[in-house]
Amino acid sequence: MDPFDKALHLTREAFLSIQEGLGKKPDASLQALEKLKSMTRRRISSLARQQQQLLSVSDQPPAPHLKLPDSPLEQWTMDSLRKAALVCVKCSHLAASRTQVVFGVGNPKAELMFVGEAPGADEDAQGEPFVGRAGQLLTRIIETMGFTRDSVYIGNVLKCRPDMPPGSSGNRKPRSEEMATCLPWLREQIRLIRPRVLVALGATAAEGLLGETRPMRELRGTWLEYEKTPTLVTYHPAYLLRNQSLQEKRKVWEDMLLVLEKLGRPISKKQRRYFLPT
Ligand code: URA
Repeated sequence: MDPFDKALHLTREAFLSIQEGLGKKPDASLQALEKLKSMTRRRISSLARQQQQLLSVSDQPPAPHLKLPDSPLEQWTMDSLRKAALVCVKCSHLAASRTQVVFGVGNPKAELMFVGEAPGADEDAQGEPFVGRAGQLLTRIIETMGFTRDSVYIGNVLKCRPDMPPGSSGNRKPRSEEMATCLPWLREQIRLIRPRVLVALGATAAEGLLGETRPMRELRGTWLEYEKTPTLVTYHPAYLLRNQSLQEKRKVWEDMLLVLEKLGRPISKKQRRYFLPT
C-alpha cells in the first residue's frame, strides 16, 4: 500500500475506534481525509519542483549559481547557497517530515566554526541550529571563550531533523548515507566561510565531516585536519548535559583552550583554571 493510503487508512481506523468509544460519529469525513492527502501530495510535489528549478536538474545546462554544490568551480554566495539548501529534497523522507531546513547561523566570515550533527525538535521548529538545551550550553561555552554567538559560525552536518517514527518524541542519530547526501552543503559553507579553526561536536559530527569512526576518547584533544583547516573534535554539549562531572567539563574546556591558542587569542589566568578541582 502507498504510504499516503496507509496513513489515511490508519487515521480512519483511529477515528472509527474513537467513534466506538464515544458512541457517536467522528468529526472528520473520509472526504476531509482525502483532501488532506492530496494537499500533502501537492506540497511535496511543489517542493520537488522548486528544487528542480533551482538546481536545474533538467537537460538544460544549469546556470552556474544553481547547480548542486559538488564542484569547487561553483560561484555560490552564502545567500544563494542558503536559498538552494532551503528547498533541498535530496532526502525525500526528511523533506517530507521536516518543518524547515536548518541551514546555519552566524558570521559568514567567522574565524571559528562549530559543526554539530543534526537539528533536533527545537531547531526544526525555529530554523536555527543549537537553540535547545544543548545549544544554550554551546552558547555559554562560546561566550566563556570570549566570543559572542554571532561572531562565530554554527552549522550541522545534516540540515534536516532526522525523522522519527510517528508518535515518538526525541531525536535519532543521522544515518551515514543521510550525512553523505547532505555533506556538499556543509563543504560549500566551509569553503565560503574559510574558518581558521573548525570544531566538530561529537563522534557523529566527526564521522560526517571527517569520515572518522574512531571512538571519542581517541579523537578528542588532538588536532586533525579538514581540507587543511585545523579541526578539533570535542564532546557534544548534549553529552555534557548527561555527564555533569567536573572532569568531563574540563576535557571540553581544555579542547577550547587549544582552540584559543591556535587562534592566538588571549587567555586569562581565570580562563585557564576553569573546571579544575579547587
Ligand atoms: N544538536 C546538534 O548536533 N545540532 C543542533 O543543531 C542541535 C542539537
